[in-house]
Amino acid sequence: MNDRFLRACRREPVDCTPIWMMRQAGRYMAEYRALREKHSMLELCKTPELAMQVTLQPLPFGMDAAILFADILLPLEPMGAPFEFAKGEGPVIHSPVGSKADVDKLRIIEPGELGYVLEAIKLLKKELKVPLIGFAGAPFTLASYLVEGGKSSQFAKTKRLMYAETETWNALMGKLAEVVRRFLHAQIDAGADAVQLFDSWIGQLNADDYRTYVQPHVAHVLKDIMKRGVPVIHFGTGTYHLLEAQKEAGGTVIGLDFRTPLAEGWKRVGHDHAVQGNLDPTVLLGPRDLAERHAARVLEQAAGRDGHIFNLGHGILPETPVANVQAVIEFVHRTSARK
Ligand code: CP3
Repeated sequence: MNDRFLRACRREPVDCTPIWMMRQAGRYMAEYRALREKHSMLELCKTPELAMQVTLQPLPFGMDAAILFADILLPLEPMGAPFEFAKGEGPVIHSPVGSKADVDKLRIIEPGELGYVLEAIKLLKKELKVPLIGFAGAPFTLASYLVEGGKSSQFAKTKRLMYAETETWNALMGKLAEVVRRFLHAQIDAGADAVQLFDSWIGQLNADDYRTYVQPHVAHVLKDIMKRGVPVIHFGTGTYHLLEAQKEAGGTVIGLDFRTPLAEGWKRVGHDHAVQGNLDPTVLLGPRDLAERHAARVLEQAAGRDGHIFNLGHGILPETPVANVQAVIEFVHRTSARK
């Protein structure tokens, strides 16, 4: 097995810097779009053979890890909050959560209720020649979809609940954290070689409020999962002001988004942690030499130190030309080759 990715997570020496890309399976690939003509997003997620097929689609580009094809929102349905991916709108939660009674109704599910995800992991482990990354959404990011009913720009309902009804907020976050903790354990039991916690929208909070309203719940998940000994990647966006607080909450690897200079971010989380990031996904739109110039800057910031996993600072955009994805992977491997 190509273990560069796992070695970098553990800050061991590597032959060259490993690379994978968030959302590496998806709409920028014609093969994915072709499958989506026949199946809905949820059908792909819920059919282990299809989820496996989509997970494998980008790997010929040379990625050093696979990320399971699934979605952070999947646990919400069995918890009692069904949703759909509406065309052009993103996720829509049918009955958003707004009150204590709504939170009381949410169920703390057993991971077996997401058995299709665990089955996809087992199928993939038979096929893969690179490590498999399992994942879950972090409590704040999941809560924001549940409370807003979908995507949001101001997060007003979420933050109102957090500030004005803190007891209900903590009950909601507690349930989500416990579901996520159990689900990540189950993914590791099924064979995931590493796991990533996506706290995509956490940059909405200032550092004090993060520590008060969120950090204990994230720590509940991560401190426990870290006992399993597989690498745990803790990712968020807009987190320049939160990096120290996120590191305290847990994670073997801290994800850096594209706004934080990698060298500064790494120094602040400490060189005793690995870091993942942080090319701006927009530069992959091209031209190719622009993408390569920016990739070179990320590598310069990492300065050849052990413990860097090359990635984007957020997910790959659907408009991205496949040729640029391939070019950047090849460029990172070639120019980071250790002498
Ligand atoms: O990274 C991968 O390739 C693995 C699969 C994966 C998906 N979603 C597939 C997906 C992962 C890791 C996610 C995580 C996810 N899902 C996050 C955290 C990461 C991030 O980008 O911040 C979030 C916030 C979600 C919630 C979600 N799912 C949204 C907001 C959307 C709509 C976005 C859009 O661009 O339409 C989804 C749908 C979704 N999840 C798609 C994919 C490939 C698009 C589905 C389609 O229309 O084919």
